[in-house]
Amino acid sequence: VKTIQVKAEAGRYAAVCGRGALGRLGGIVENLRDGGTVFVLSSPKVWRHCGAAVLRKSRELVSQRVILFDDREVAKRLATVEKICRKLAAARADRQILLVAVGGGVVGDVAGFVAASYLRGVRVVHVPTTLVAQVDSAIGGKTGVNLPEGKNLVGAFFQPQAVIADPLFLLTLAPRQFRSGIYEVIKYGVIGDAALFDFLERKLANVLRLDMPALEFVIERSVRQKARVVGKDAREAGLRQVLNFGHTIGHALEALTGYKYFLHGEAVGWGMLGATRIAAAMGRLSEQDANRVASLIARCGKLPRLPAISSEALLRAIAGDKKSRGGKVGWVIPRRIGAVDFGVNVPEPLVAAAWRELPAFYEDARKGN
Ligand SMILES: NC(=O)c1ccc[n+]([C@@H]2O[C@H](COP(=O)([O-])OP(=O)(O)OC[C@H]3O[C@@H](n4cnc5c(N)ncnc54)[C@H](O)[C@@H]3O)[C@@H](O)[C@H]2O)c1
Ligand SMILES: [Zn+2]
Repeated sequence: VKTIQVKAEAGRYAAVCGRGALGRLGGIVENLRDGGTVFVLSSPKVWRHCGAAVLRKSRELVSQRVILFDDREVAKRLATVEKICRKLAAARADRQILLVAVGGGVVGDVAGFVAASYLRGVRVVHVPTTLVAQVDSAIGGKTGVNLPEGKNLVGAFFQPQAVIADPLFLLTLAPRQFRSGIYEVIKYGVIGDAALFDFLERKLANVLRLDMPALEFVIERSVRQKARVVGKDAREAGLRQVLNFGHTIGHALEALTGYKYFLHGEAVGWGMLGATRIAAAMGRLSEQDANRVASLIARCGKLPRLPAISSEALLRAIAGDKKSRGGKVGWVIPRRIGAVDFGVNVPEPLVAAAWRELPAFYEDARKGN
């Protein structure tokens, strides 16, 4: 078990990673609780898979109140936040309570926003149970919900007291959900950790079969990478944009398919292929490194086919993303494996060309493996 310190404006907190990390929950809760009531926030599905393990570790401490809510993406909305807050209020929850959020990114984003807003802020510990949540959403303090007008449009920056990322939770995860998280792990390799990328090249099969030592390594390196980036730029003023590698096209693909066709990580997988192709076309990345990125992505299993989307529609969707600033799209473009530039201006014809070549680029990478 490794403890990684995550720096935030309001102090620092520990992310505890590795097999047996869950064993630390009892002690962490005991230290933080200070006489207050502990409420677990989770979903029926997550609790069915993970509840027994959580309670085994810390029954007296953690089982005081369990509030379960729907964690489908469609339920990630203000109505769910209101329901949870009303349950807390009905239980006379005061500022001294401690929330323990057990679940994937949806549970974490909703519970984190509840923590940020109930009584203007109560403490929360995150226990992420998906790969995406462990390497990404539980770290960095972004919380929030969707509006019918778009994803994650209402939210707050709010840091947890601690994060506990135990890979044993991932054993019950649907394979497609697991692979979706692997694309984000590849992202961390490309943007800032060449050793992680090398490791994935050598040990991807181990990771995909949930071999625990391999999984522990990639989770720890990913958490370190995310912690490093958000520690330097908590509010996405600059550096944090590097985390958006693959997300410019990825977000556009999700929006164009109504968030129903791709899992987020899969859209990011396509998006990283696109940004890599663009990088090579601009002469910013060697063909050799571009092929390594494509090849690793191709080895993770088959991405859902790209739907027929014109390059005009793609460019429009890219310009509409909330992360574009005043209409200017800042691309994250790799320089080599382990280093990227952000805020890069890419001429639209280049984007359109990369988009047309994308299926062939991916197929070639698959054949090459
Ligand atoms: N806050 C951030 O910085 C950030 C970063 C990335 C993603 N997100 C958000 O996270 C959400 C996606 O999160 P996700 O990929 O974790 O998906 P998710 O929370 O939707 O979970 C995926 C599915 O797996 C189930 N599940 C969770 N843990 C399980 C387990 N251990 N065993 C079996 N089933 C389990 C869930 O019930 C759900 O059906 C999106 O809403 C996205 O916007 C937020
Ligand atoms: Zn992402």
